[in-house]
Parts: sequence; structure tokens; C-alpha cells
Amino acid sequence: MVHPTARRVALAALQTWREKKDFADRIISRLLSEPALASADRAFAIELFYGVLRNLTLLDFWIALLRPGQLNLDLRDVLRLGLYQLLVIETAEHAAVYETVELAQKRLRSVVNGTLRNAIRRREELQAALVSQPPEVRFSHPRFLIGRWSEQFGAKPSTALCEWNNRRPIIYARINQLKVDPQTFLARYGEAELLPADSSFVKLSSPQEALDRGDCYVQDPSTAVACRLLKPEPGEKILDACAAPGGKTAYLAELMENNGLVVACDRDVDRLSVLEENLARLDVQIAKIVCHDWTKQNVPDEISSAAPFDRILIDAPCSNTGVMRRRVDVRWRRKPTDFVRMQERQVQIIGAVAPLLKRGGTFVYSTCSIESEENEGVVESVLRESPALRQETKQKCLPFVDQFDGAFAVRLRKTE
Ligand SMILES: C[S@@+](CC[C@H](N)C(=O)[O-])C[C@H]1O[C@@H](n2cnc3c(N)ncnc32)[C@H](O)[C@@H]1O
Repeated sequence: MVHPTARRVALAALQTWREKKDFADRIISRLLSEPALASADRAFAIELFYGVLRNLTLLDFWIALLRPGQLNLDLRDVLRLGLYQLLVIETAEHAAVYETVELAQKRLRSVVNGTLRNAIRRREELQAALVSQPPEVRFSHPRFLIGRWSEQFGAKPSTALCEWNNRRPIIYARINQLKVDPQTFLARYGEAELLPADSSFVKLSSPQEALDRGDCYVQDPSTAVACRLLKPEPGEKILDACAAPGGKTAYLAELMENNGLVVACDRDVDRLSVLEENLARLDVQIAKIVCHDWTKQNVPDEISSAAPFDRILIDAPCSNTGVMRRRVDVRWRRKPTDFVRMQERQVQIIGAVAPLLKRGGTFVYSTCSIESEENEGVVESVLRESPALRQETKQKCLPFVDQFDGAFAVRLRKTE
């Protein structure tokens, strides 16, 4: 059996990603689920896999300069890994070349060795060649995304967004005040740093122990916006319509002091079981978990019997363009037609959920997309179709402005 190493795991992940078209985080968690690697090696495997995905076009540009013409796909993956180490994160040359050559099939090893050594010799020329390349190569993003961001936000913000997406994300966690107050949390986890702008959140590079104890939940501070706009009160009845894996459900329960009812609904059974585990660990006691797809008829009794709700959160499925720093392969999945397609689904979900709101009640629609079709566009469409709804307030978080993940949330009130 071949001994697993960080580079071997990263290569296997790249090959699976290319062949199976599965989600990158799922692929790497599956490969790392066998605890055969030391924790530093696990971290390096993730760094290599995500790093190559973030820099695909750039690495292929260099490969084309070093080895013009058609390439065997397995060879390309090995070269991508090697060049990422040598030219992007600047791993020690000897280790990067030797260990990467070892990854290749025997008959390809001399090609890998020659190409990587050539890259070391031509390092400055390869870096200089980038200057004249368009942003889609320099920042490894699909051209259509850069085009639409330049149109929506301007050329400089679009570049800043690409740079943001290529940076390693910071781990933020929300202190779970159902279990622990911020002072105790900070005393218990010495490395945690409270965010000056939001004292419910900390920066935490090794959150595992705090997570296992239910003392925190890993989420970006921008995810709190939707819950705060909803302003749930203790004792109320809330519907969290797209709830899994439960980050916002848990925060709603905290804002309600574990008093009242939160119906946590989602269509995905697997994600609901993760939600169930999360809520148990976080000591959420007021959630009722229901599986339902809002694009299907017949709202289940468990939901309709609790209606009308005081407040509803619709944290809709979306294109995820605000969280590309964390979801590194999202950029390669998006198509130009996605945004209008998502808008149709989002409007459909709101149409199915809004009748469950009481008269005078409020609902918050939120996404982690920064695209106007999925945000303002959805709101315009819903307001046009439903004269009984009135927009109260909205908030948008843009990574290149706010330095957090992208998010959008709007609060609407049902007047009749
Ligand atoms: C953005 S995620 C929700 C994240 C969650 N609110 C949290 O904070 O952890 C969107 C969720 O909507 C669910 N979803 C997508 N389409 C749905 C539908 N038609 N009906 C119900 N849930 C749906 C997905 O399974 C996914 O879990």
C-alpha cells in the first residue's frame, strides 16, 4: 500500500474533483476522514488542494509556457501541484521537486522533474509574463464573473474581490451564549480574539475543542446580519425556512433565549441530520425540525399547524458568490445563466413561504450572493407581485468594502 502523504492526498483530491465533479470540501473531508495523516500534514493537504483550485488558470498559463501542447490530465494535475508549491507559496525547492516527482507515474517522472526544474530556472520570467495577462488569468476567475463584477461594482472593486477570493479565509466563530458568556469563553480559549466590531464573534485558529463543547459555532460575522434584522423575541413562533446546517437557527434560538418555537425546515435530509447534531451540541431546545421542499405542494402538518408565524427567515439557496473565499470551487461551477435561474427559485420559495406569516409579521430574505438578480432583483419581483408586503430595511455586506463574507438581507412586513 502506498503511504499517504499531504501531497498524495492533495493529488487524489484534485483527480477526484476533476473526474467526479463533486464539491471540493466534501472530497477533501472524505479523503481526510481516515486519521492517517498528522495534523500538520492534513493542513498542508488542504492548503495544496484549495490553493491549486484557487489558482487553476494561472497554473495552467505557466504550464502552457513550460510545456506547450496537449497534456495528459494526470500529468497536468501533478504539474499544477508542483508549480503551486514553487511559484505561489514558495515551498523549499528541493522538497517541492523531489516529493512532487514521486507522485507521478514512473514513466512521467522525468517530464515532471524537467518541467519543475525549468520553472525554478525561469521563475522571474514566468512571474513577469503575468503582468500582461488579463485578470481572468492573473486571478484565476472565469472571465464572465469578472465582467459582471466590473459592471456592477467597477474595475477596482472587481479586482479587490478576486484578490479577496484568493486569500486564505480567517476562521471566525460565534460564541454560543446559550452555553457560555463571552468573558468565560475568552478565559477558556486563550487564543480567541474578540472582534472589535462585533463582540458576539471571535477569531479562532484552532476552534475544535470549543466546537466539540458547543461553546461556539464557526460562521462568518456577516451571517449574523439576517438574524439581527429579523429581531426574534423570546416566546415567539419563528419559521426558519431554509435552515440546514443550522448556523442561523442556533443564533435565532440564542436571541430568543431558548424560549418560544423555531421550526427549522430544509429539503435536504442529510443536511438536516447535521443540523440536528449541531443544535443538540449548541443546546438549542426550542427547535422543531421538519423536512420539506418549498417548490412542492402541500405544506406538511408540522408546519401548517404552527402557522401563522410571528417572523420568518428565508436564507435562500443562492449562487454563493459572496463566499468564494471559503467555497473555493464555486467559481468553476457558476454559469452566466445561473443568476436568473436562482432568482426564479428564490421567488418561488418566498411565494410558498410568505402565506405562513401572520398579518403584521415580518420576514427576512437573505443570501450569501452579491449578485443584484438574487438580491434587489428578487425583492423587486416579490414586491411587484405582493402588494401586501412592504420593505422595511436592508443590509448588504461586500467583501471588498466590509472585509467579511458577502451577504444580503432585507426585512419585509406583511401589512394585510
Ligand atoms: C444557504 S443554505 C441555508 C444555511 C442555513 N440557514 C444556515 O445558516 O446554516 C440554503 C438551504 O436551503 C435548502 N434548500 C434549497 N432549496 C430548498 C427548497 N426548495 N426547499 C427547502 N429547502 C431548500 C438547502 O438544502 C440549504 O440547506
